[in-house]
Amino acid sequence: MKVNQIQYKTIWYHEGEVHMINQLLLPFRFEIFTAKTLEETCLAIKTMIVRGAGAIGAAAGFAMAQAARKAPESGYLDYITDASIMIKNCRPTAYNLFYAVEKVFAAALEGKEQAEEEAKRLAEKNIEDGYQIGLHGLSLIKPGMRILTHCNAGWLAFVDWGSALAPVYHASRKGMNPFVWVGETRPRSQGARLTAWELYNEEIQHTIVADNAVASLMSSGKIDLVITGADCIALNGDTANKTGTLDRAILARHFKIPFFIAAPASTFDPHCETGAGIKIEMRHQDEVKYQEGPDEEGEIRKINVSNPASMALNPAFDVTPSILINGIITEKGILNPRRSDISRFLETD
Ligand code: MRU
Repeated sequence: MKVNQIQYKTIWYHEGEVHMINQLLLPFRFEIFTAKTLEETCLAIKTMIVRGAGAIGAAAGFAMAQAARKAPESGYLDYITDASIMIKNCRPTAYNLFYAVEKVFAAALEGKEQAEEEAKRLAEKNIEDGYQIGLHGLSLIKPGMRILTHCNAGWLAFVDWGSALAPVYHASRKGMNPFVWVGETRPRSQGARLTAWELYNEEIQHTIVADNAVASLMSSGKIDLVITGADCIALNGDTANKTGTLDRAILARHFKIPFFIAAPASTFDPHCETGAGIKIEMRHQDEVKYQEGPDEEGEIRKINVSNPASMALNPAFDVTPSILINGIITEKGILNPRRSDISRFLETD
């Protein structure tokens, strides 16, 4: 996708260094962060310089390639094994991270170059998956449709294209004039900050709404379709995504609005039977208690927006049961969110 008319990817790898758009600064500043070591790439995942399941997956694959590159000849296996554990401990929910670590670890057993090639291959596949998800999802969109999304599941959440927003990008390029309702997505406001910035750069009509305005928008007939991304999908179709996704799914069912998830095969956890088995990340309470924005000099500052003496709880994701999901838009087509269809889909990955 383009930023100020220049073509960018969210994250890329070059000679042992991982380069990524620093998402902590968007939309106020556009900077590239470079992680020169495995440890720096892990820190970028933990601090959310890079975030979104697909982009986290690419970062994890590159981190594993950095580990293989640096591993000593004697003790190579121990070094890459420790590195794989370190990367897996960065963030617990996005399955793409575990998928990429396992794939690149297997390649690293063959050698350093194979690890780097595999990490780059996965990043290229990540782009192609988003493109294909977009084409399949396009079949759900009619000209002028008003689509609600949550969090950021656009190109910043992948290497390029994204998942939930990919059909919108295709629709826009075909002149179908889609309109996007952007849920702000407290506490970190990925919707208001990142999704809105992406859509603005692509010149797609959109409006940011407070998370708690969605029910009234639905009840007054202003939303035609809901598409969100996913961080982890269980074998029965239960789906973890940014906290608040479950609210939207329940509301969509109540108001008879189609609710779709968009995700590639690398988001499906083949070891996880149901949503009850998905590990939900608990993040620091300060993300709820503080809001961020630039000061007059452009430095990003935090301000307290809640009673200082009160505690806050910050579960980063929730699980939407498959029964509330009309379909899962994948790179190979739109799946019924049921076990038989998901197993067949994963067999061909
Ligand atoms: O905590 P984040 O910003 O990494 O969470 C991101 C989301 O929940 C996205 O909606 C999700 O990754 C799906 S799109 C890849």
